[in-house]
Amino acid sequence: MTQPVITQKKPFAMELDPGEYWWCACGKSRSQPFCDGSHQGTDLSPQKFIIKERQMVWLCGCKHSETMPYCDGTHKKL
Ligand code: FES
Ligand code: FES
Repeated sequence: MTQPVITQKKPFAMELDPGEYWWCACGKSRSQPFCDGSHQGTDLSPQKFIIKERQMVWLCGCKHSETMPYCDGTHKKL
């Protein structure tokens, strides 16, 4: 299985409006932390998530979290 590229060893902290989002799991997107289609040709695919009300989120930037798309602290061990 293709290993994701580590975009950064810290989460993307951002405030999101309600809606549907696609988190980049491969690390290759130029629109981090969101998918821009660059995963094509790999066996990785983006993770869809839904935000119901405006809130702060900490999206995984290392692409190794076990609670994708959210940071679970795994980046500290990389
Ligand atoms: Fe990374 Fe789509 S560009 S999952
Ligand atoms: Fe990936 Fe924290 S940034 S687990």
